[in-house]
Amino acid sequence: MLYLKAISLLQFKNYTNRSFEFPKKVVAICGKNGMGKTNILDAIHYLCFTKSYFSNTDAINVQQGARGFRIEGLFTLNSQDETAVCILRETGKKEFLIDAAPYDKFSMHIGRYPCVVIAPDDAVLITGGSEERRAFIDALLSQLDPEYLKQLILYNKILQQRNSFLKTAAETGSFDEELLSVLDVQLQAPGSFIFSKRRDALLAFLPKVKRLYTEIAQQEEYLSLLYESRLLETEFGELLQASRQKDNLLARTTNGIHRDDITIQLGAQPFKNIASQGQRKSLLFALKITELELLAAEKKFSPVLLLDDVFEKLDEERISNLLAKVCIENDGQVFITDTNKERITQHMQALGVDFHLIEL
Ligand SMILES: Nc1ncnc2c1ncn2[C@@H]1O[C@H](COP(=O)(O)OP(=O)(O)OP(=O)(O)O)[C@@H](O)[C@H]1O
Ligand SMILES: [Mg+2]
Repeated sequence: MLYLKAISLLQFKNYTNRSFEFPKKVVAICGKNGMGKTNILDAIHYLCFTKSYFSNTDAINVQQGARGFRIEGLFTLNSQDETAVCILRETGKKEFLIDAAPYDKFSMHIGRYPCVVIAPDDAVLITGGSEERRAFIDALLSQLDPEYLKQLILYNKILQQRNSFLKTAAETGSFDEELLSVLDVQLQAPGSFIFSKRRDALLAFLPKVKRLYTEIAQQEEYLSLLYESRLLETEFGELLQASRQKDNLLARTTNGIHRDDITIQLGAQPFKNIASQGQRKSLLFALKITELELLAAEKKFSPVLLLDDVFEKLDEERISNLLAKVCIENDGQVFITDTNKERITQHMQALGVDFHLIEL
């Protein structure tokens, strides 16, 4: 079991020095716009992923006028208490410690506290470009398997080397065919590893998303979700060989797992072109809740779920269905923000959910 009992924030965004206790499994965080609801969720995200959900730059999360921040969380993991601390030093150096022991590599922490977030901007997962969907798959698989993240980091490093090789070759006109072959061999191993992990995981994952979507929509819709990768037809080595000329011409690696996607269609049309806002939101929930279920099944305990402003544009019935799914059917810890204290209280009471209310 995974449970966050308390959090302390120092110079983190709008919090100068503040602690919160979470004595119950379901926590509702209420307050007006700009009071710091999302900031609490982001601090929890830091403790789970060693970084912000919103930005890769740590410095912008330091309270204006201050230098450095500190986030401390008291977790219970499989009946053991442990303290996780994330510090951004005045020098800009970041540290992450469990019970005062620092990690050598932050990537080693990923998956220890599995976590799923649903936030308003997540609609880009459906409406945005393929990199959004790859990031989603990567976040899921990295939490399931530390080797996946290791191979992904390696792949990106070699990909960068290959791209700068191609760029230099284009600029100077001198081309070392042998060196490119070496890079190709180096890229193949992590590339093929990631491909097979994605293929196998999505084979199980996508039909579940579809089923859940139908359940949320409460009617049959012709939704199709497919993993799309050139590696499905062609082995990676062959693919790199075949795209050499094009790669040279464009001075970048045009094929590989960094181009994978999930195609989503409603009938014969791309989902993003024709789906209504409600349909998009239903699909987003289906993706995220399936992610939650998969993580829970693999870890043997439920991830922490962070729900930021999810009620906007949902009718009362859908809010109720969603809350029942995440607060009753799911046995993990859930943090929910809302500007409307009465709304969330009424829904929770109607469902008989015992919850802790934080008013900012
Ligand atoms: N680095 C920072 N230093 C100081 N204050 C910050 C920093 N970053 C963000 N803030 C403040 O945090 C507040 C926003 O907090 P947050 O996004 O958590 O609000 P919220 O309660 O989720 O609001 P909403 O209901 O609009 O989503 C703003 O007042 C913003 O000025
Ligand atoms: Mg917010």
